[in-house]
Amino acid sequence: MQQETMFGHPKGLFVLFFTEMWERFSFYGMRAILVLYLTALTTDEINPGLGWTSTEALALYGWYGMFVYFMGIFGGAIADKWLGQKKAVIVGGVLIILGQFALTIHNMTMFYAGLVLLVCGVGLLKPNISTMVGGLYPKGDGRRDAGFTLFYIGINIGALAAPLLVGYFGEQVNWHLGFSLAGFGMIVGQIVFVFGGKHLKDVGNLLKHSETEAHLATQPLTKIEKDRVIVLLLSFLIVIVFWAAYEQAGGLMSLYARDSVDRMVWGFEVPTSWFQSLHAFYVVLIGVTVAGLWLKWGNMGKESSAIFKMAVGMIIMSISFLALMGALYDASINVLGKAPIYWLLFSYLLHVIAELSISPVALSFITKLAPTKYASLMMGAYFAIVGIGNKAAGLLGEAAQKAGEMAIFAIIAIACLLVGILLFFLVKKLKALTHGAEEITMV
Ligand code: PHE
Repeated sequence: MQQETMFGHPKGLFVLFFTEMWERFSFYGMRAILVLYLTALTTDEINPGLGWTSTEALALYGWYGMFVYFMGIFGGAIADKWLGQKKAVIVGGVLIILGQFALTIHNMTMFYAGLVLLVCGVGLLKPNISTMVGGLYPKGDGRRDAGFTLFYIGINIGALAAPLLVGYFGEQVNWHLGFSLAGFGMIVGQIVFVFGGKHLKDVGNLLKHSETEAHLATQPLTKIEKDRVIVLLLSFLIVIVFWAAYEQAGGLMSLYARDSVDRMVWGFEVPTSWFQSLHAFYVVLIGVTVAGLWLKWGNMGKESSAIFKMAVGMIIMSISFLALMGALYDASINVLGKAPIYWLLFSYLLHVIAELSISPVALSFITKLAPTKYASLMMGAYFAIVGIGNKAAGLLGEAAQKAGEMAIFAIIAIACLLVGILLFFLVKKLKALTHGAEEITMV
């Protein structure tokens, strides 16, 4: 199928880029004010919330974070079986819009209904739009990884802007205005997707158009396909550790930034909440550079398979937690009990270098390895793993309240290191099992 291109990529990539940018704006905007809204007093005259305790609010936040991604497995399966990815994205977008607007109504039934709609909507939209990025590139097309990097940057532009805008209006003016803004963001995303649909050609349509395809859809998996699924499932298991470590940012690292870091910079105290946008900021800043470095590395003839990049990512993640331990030590010997801010800035930077070596790489890898008829399901399974990682992150945060931050950071550093080393040893074996899925065809 002939695709029109823009900046060397199929035009459809930019449709998916902007749709997902707005979906993430909506997602992260809502997430930025959820706990604040839950814990704001009901008696607050200007901007009343729901009056929950912090423990209750954090527990709901943890479950929401898990289900919203876990649902991806169903979202993927539904797309493979009934809807196709394109329709799944549209239905998901509508559910998200309804969910955000349900939250604008100050009533408990509407609140829970809103959360359920969001969980179902994101579950349908997010994995399927990611699979569609892969669908834009034919097998062996060397631009696929770069396409995913661009897509990932779009995600993070949305994630960067959301806490600033939705957070500001939600917190300073009215929570419900914040949720409406998040809803409007998704409306813009939906418009982009529907009107840009022509550039997607038949990417994301249900696989059952021709008789040959219908025949393929009922065939059992071949040995090669099965091997590839095994590699994917193994890499997913490993990726749980990464997300459990990465998502410390919203919990433990945020408390740590508030209590144990000297946030004064040139006489200005950096607000703790700004750290929520730091990951996204770094991704936008260095996304292209990190992807470019990997490309250069590969072009030099060095090992640069997805599994290898993931192994390196895990080890970098481990170092980032060593940096945090350094900060804890610094704080312990400081009279005010505070560590300098650069430890935290450095640690977040390492997080993002690791993220860029793992997350967009994994998305691209899935679209290369998954058998076509299970393409969305495999992507959904990956999102389910991210959901479990999110929940595990929360549990680690809770454990730190008893065991202390130093112990938990050390455990995370060791776990990431061990996983990284294990992956290094498995690179050759796993690569063989992919049966050349990563090979690029020269055109
Ligand atoms: N920042 C990423 C995003 O919102 C985090 C993520 C990666 C979430 C992979 C789910 C799956 O897309």
